[in-house]
Amino acid sequence: MSLPTHFKLNTGTKIPAVGLGTWRSEPGQVRQAVSFALKNGYTHIDAALIYGNEHEVGQGIKDSGVPREKIFITSKLWNTHQPNAAEGLQKTLDALGTDYLDLYLIHWPVRLVPNEFNQLLPVNPDGTRCVDRSWDQSETWRQMEELYKGGKVKAIGVANWSISYLEELKKTWTVVPAVNQVELHPFLPQHALKDWCDKHGIQLEAYSPLGSEGAPLMSDSEIQEIAKKNGVSAATVLISYHVNRGVIVLPKSIKESRIVSNSEVIPLSIEDMKVLNGLAAQGKAKRINTPLWGWDLGFDDWYSQ
Ligand SMILES: NC(=O)c1ccc[n+]([C@@H]2O[C@H](COP(=O)([O-])OP(=O)(O)OC[C@H]3O[C@@H](n4cnc5c(N)ncnc54)[C@H](OP(=O)(O)O)[C@@H]3O)[C@@H](O)[C@H]2O)c1
Repeated sequence: MSLPTHFKLNTGTKIPAVGLGTWRSEPGQVRQAVSFALKNGYTHIDAALIYGNEHEVGQGIKDSGVPREKIFITSKLWNTHQPNAAEGLQKTLDALGTDYLDLYLIHWPVRLVPNEFNQLLPVNPDGTRCVDRSWDQSETWRQMEELYKGGKVKAIGVANWSISYLEELKKTWTVVPAVNQVELHPFLPQHALKDWCDKHGIQLEAYSPLGSEGAPLMSDSEIQEIAKKNGVSAATVLISYHVNRGVIVLPKSIKESRIVSNSEVIPLSIEDMKVLNGLAAQGKAKRINTPLWGWDLGFDDWYSQ
């Protein structure tokens, strides 16, 4: 069985099945990592304004010498820019040094209100985040649709949206999101969200496939057993799991040997996939990314489904 190297978005465009993540890739390291990845077979880069390194990601893209049109670049509208998506997009385009994105996502279904102390991650005096609960996400999506129609973004989507948020958005969308980028791995497989997105033609993307910083999921004994059986690393099993499931995967590394090995995906047997798909239900359910604004975003649903 051969695995797809690309998936097709509901816009008709093809998107590479594996992309390089760039969160927590320090500005001094990400330029080289991006350039190396593009020279070694990657054609898909996942960026975001909040990562604080888009300028260096852009330099890495230029250093690689790979023509812009051969690269699929994703970035994300940050929470404080929700009332003015065009401004958020322009900041990203300027930093990356490009005049269009292949995919632009709403980073979280949350508006944060900037204050005089912090423009990107504002906090209230009591330490909570400055969240505007009254903000209507359909207004943010309406602006995303405008950007899409304007041509500076070739596809639009969302990130960190649970089914309840998508159901709400569905009432007003005129463009169906092309992508939903969420935390996904065998410990948070989100089967119900996958079914919902499949039904609506929304492509899922898996972030934190290795469990994020330090790749903690690689030390799980059942993952290691499957890796040993297939003669590959635990990272390869965790990354391949998604492509075998029809999901795009975004492993992050700044190390050259890992960048190369993380792009190698293998077919997994029905038996292995059954084990991986069932780990969460057997008591290993775990969500790694839990931002301060996260707990009323339907994450509880995500566990139970
Ligand atoms: N939309 C969102 O809200 C959101 C949230 C989180 C992440 N993301 C996206 O998804 C990407 C991936 O998620 P992530 O960065 O959280 O974590 P991840 O890819 O699951 O794991 C990254 C960690 O694993 C290490 N690593 C990578 N390959 C390895 C290998 N083969 N063997 C051992 N260790 C390895 C990396 O260290 P080295 O770099 O030192 O190799 C790093 O510490 C992000 O970079 C970002 O682009 C999006």
